Amino acid sequence: MKPLLVPLQDTAQISGPLAHALDAETADIDLRRFPDGETYLRFDTLPEGRDVILLAGLARPDAKMPALLFAAQTARALGAASVGLVAPYLPYMRQDRVFRPGEAVTSVQFAKLVSSCADWLVTIDPHLHRWHALSDIYDIPARAAHAAPAMAAWISREVDHPLLIGPDAESEQWVSEIAALAGAEHIVLTKTRHGDRDVDISPPDLGKWRHHTPVIVDDTISTASTMMAVTRQLVEQGLRPPTCCAAHGIFADGAFEALLQAGAARIVTSNTISHPSNGIDVSGILASAANGLIEEIRPSSR
Ligand code: R5P
Repeated sequence: MKPLLVPLQDTAQISGPLAHALDAETADIDLRRFPDGETYLRFDTLPEGRDVILLAGLARPDAKMPALLFAAQTARALGAASVGLVAPYLPYMRQDRVFRPGEAVTSVQFAKLVSSCADWLVTIDPHLHRWHALSDIYDIPARAAHAAPAMAAWISREVDHPLLIGPDAESEQWVSEIAALAGAEHIVLTKTRHGDRDVDISPPDLGKWRHHTPVIVDDTISTASTMMAVTRQLVEQGLRPPTCCAAHGIFADGAFEALLQAGAARIVTSNTISHPSNGIDVSGILASAANGLIEEIRPSSR
C-alpha cells in the first residue's frame, strides 16, 4: 500500500511535489481551530496499517506543535504501521547551549518532544553548529538531507559566471559543496555577530571578482542581517549586485524588503518554508531521504 502523506499547517507549497516524489497518497484531514483557539483534528482518510508521513511546516513553530503531536498520536491510535515526520525546516536548533545561566537548551527539549511522537525524522540542512549531528539530540532515526544539489542546479541554470560567497566559517560546509556541484569558485568571509540584528563582516580585498556575479549562500535568512552586511561590503567594493540564495527563507519582519533595499539583485530560497522567493524545489531530496528511512525502520515498525 502507498504511504499516506498527512500535510499539516503551512505546507501547501511542497505537499503536492512531495506526494508525487514519494508516490504517496495525500490524506484528507480536517485541521482547524475551535472558537477558543484550541486545535481540532480529524483524519478523513484512515491511516490503519499505513506508513504515515506527517509533513509539518515548522517555521514559527509555537502555534503548530499541538497539531503535530495530536496528528502523530491519532495516527497511532488509528493503527498506523509507522509514523514518520518530514519537517522541511527544523526549528529550535540554534539554542544549542546555555549562553546565560538559567536558560532552557531548547534544541534538546524540542528534540525530546519530537522523538516522543515520531518514529523517524527527515529535514533539510538543519542548523548544526555546536551539535554535529541530529543523533546528538534526537532519539529516533533522523536524517539531515542537503539542499546543495538543488541549489547548485539553480545557480548553474540562472547565474552567469557565479562566485559563491559564504558569510562565515559555518557556511563553508554548504558553500564548498554547492560550488563543487556547480563547477564555480567560492570564498568564505568572517562574521562577528554582536546581537540578533547586529552583524559585522570582514571581507578581504574582493577586487579580482568584479567580473563575476556574486552569489551569497547561507543555510538560513532570518533577519537578513548577515546577507545585508555581506551585500553592503560587495557594493562598497564595486562588485555586481549579488544574488542571495538560502535553503530556508524565514524573513523576520520586513527582512525580505530590507535585503532588496540593501542592494540584493535577486533573492531565492528553497520551498522548505512558503515564501514568494521560493525558486528551488527540494521535494525530491526529501522524498529519497524519507524512503531510505522508511526502509531502514521497516522490520522494527511492523
Ligand atoms: C548562522 O548562524 C546562520 O548560518 C545564518 O547565517 C543565520 O541564521 C542568518 O541569520 P540572519 O538572517 O538573522 O542574519
